[in-house]
Amino acid sequence: MPPFDLDTSAQVAAMQVLPPAQLPLSKQLKAGTRREHDSVDTLVMQSRPFESLARYGCFLRLQHRFHGALDALYHASELNRLLPGLHEMPRFSAVCADLTDLGLAHPPTPTPVTPPSVHAGLGWLYCSEGSNLGAAFLFKQTQLIGLSAERGARHLAAHPDGRSLHWRQFVALLDGLELSESQREEAVGGAVAAFALYRAALREIFPAA
Ligand code: HEM
Repeated sequence: MPPFDLDTSAQVAAMQVLPPAQLPLSKQLKAGTRREHDSVDTLVMQSRPFESLARYGCFLRLQHRFHGALDALYHASELNRLLPGLHEMPRFSAVCADLTDLGLAHPPTPTPVTPPSVHAGLGWLYCSEGSNLGAAFLFKQTQLIGLSAERGARHLAAHPDGRSLHWRQFVALLDGLELSESQREEAVGGAVAAFALYRAALREIFPAA
């Protein structure tokens, strides 16, 4: 048998033992939740949250439900060990301040989510932090109904470091983690569950959407 055939079979053998190239975790999360994202994006727009202050009030109750349910994750010690600085990122208190700005009652504090593992928790946080990227568009819409980063739309305002720098820093933390394949799948499962919570809360709070 000529040598190049030997080389080929050696290469095939090597391919069989090497693990497949891994996507960065953030890319795996994005790919694993594309459909979920598109569905909540459509549902939010269909619910016309910026048409009036009354509808925006419903949107704030939705944001209160979502960010309130996640708030404890931002303070969990194991997640802060994996993602240093996490405890400085939650937006629940800004959502509460927005409700106060508009003279709206605060709904009861939502039941905290309890992801089945710390790695699933990473996926929940990916969903929440990523939602701040699309919030650039939502923030502009709030200005049309007279709201701002100082009144009523605090939780949609850009991070002081800038939206995209903050996101890139968060992504760098996620992508720097060394996780096994099953831990990465748990993270994707957590992100899917986070989108599902958002969608269910939206359907309850905006029944016609
Ligand atoms: C009308 C509503 C929404 C619009 C228009 C919207 C739009 C966008 C856009 C344009 C981006 C990409 C931004 C960029 O790459 O610079 C993005 C990213 C993202 N959004 Fe939304 N979004 C909406 C709602 C939401 C909601 C409700 C959630 C979560 C509950 C969410 C989660 C995410 C996540 C996780 C990313 C990051 C995707 C990545 O990995 O790059 N979005 N969104």
